[in-house]
Amino acid sequence: MSQIINYGSCCIDHVFQIPHFVRAGETLSSTGYAIFPGGKGLNQSIAVAEAGCAVTHVGAVGEDGRWLAELMTARGVNITHLGITNTPTGQAILQIDPSGENAIIILGGANLAAHEHLIDAALNDATGDEILLIQNETSGNEAAIRQAKAKGLQVAFNMAPMNANARALPLALIDYFIINETEGEALTGKTEPSEICDAVLDQYPHSAVVLTLGPAGVLFRTAERNLSQPAYPVETVDTTGAGDTFTGYFLATLMKTQQVELALQTAAAAAALSVTQPGAATSIPTLHDVNQFLATRAS
Ligand code: RIB
Repeated sequence: MSQIINYGSCCIDHVFQIPHFVRAGETLSSTGYAIFPGGKGLNQSIAVAEAGCAVTHVGAVGEDGRWLAELMTARGVNITHLGITNTPTGQAILQIDPSGENAIIILGGANLAAHEHLIDAALNDATGDEILLIQNETSGNEAAIRQAKAKGLQVAFNMAPMNANARALPLALIDYFIINETEGEALTGKTEPSEICDAVLDQYPHSAVVLTLGPAGVLFRTAERNLSQPAYPVETVDTTGAGDTFTGYFLATLMKTQQVELALQTAAAAAALSVTQPGAATSIPTLHDVNQFLATRAS
């Protein structure tokens, strides 16, 4: 079986429980605080590994992030190409409101140190059967995309966080756009989900669009296929990392089985389970739990 090479961020998440998102000029007391492992890249690598697909994480942490490296190893991620830099690890400050919704501030830290040598080394051994997964919390994405395509890999881009840098990347080289509605609107100017998919495919006709819609499920579109997967209703504690869990489980299941419908269903179930637990990486379920959840939904 081939693997997913995930060039992505690692963060230390400082999570504050708050009664409502803080307003301009307001000082707000939090009702709880905890430090969690996070970063979209790390979360996605753990989700891929939990879904049972081989994954190599490429990226960097500072000395203060060695515990993140240990956690990835413990959860089955290959960290051969994870750098330990002099720059401190990326940080995130998260507000979680009583409905489980979040607002996040990130500080790039080691995620924004130049990592071309790490991606070079990781792609050096690639055979072309792998998928390169990227998100938008790391520098060096353009080089990573171009090198991966030169080696014959497929490239999946979770366009989060969406900004001008993400839109300036060579998007014609992307095979899978994994976006939510807000990111889809920023990318296409459209607000209606099927129009977002149409607009992406008009511009990048050879790509696949995976449009996540929160409680409304997910759409999968290519030039030939038009699928939808409902979301599984659950009691939400914390939505942080749900998109990362979905992305990792979707790509891993697709790579293992080549079945898009199964990948969508498994990823939707994993994302649903993730929002029932606090934290990002800590909330990513095992494949055993995902399969049990799906079995209870089927009966
Ligand atoms: O997607 C969730 C992640 O976004 C958090 O873990 C935080 O680190 C930010 O990167």
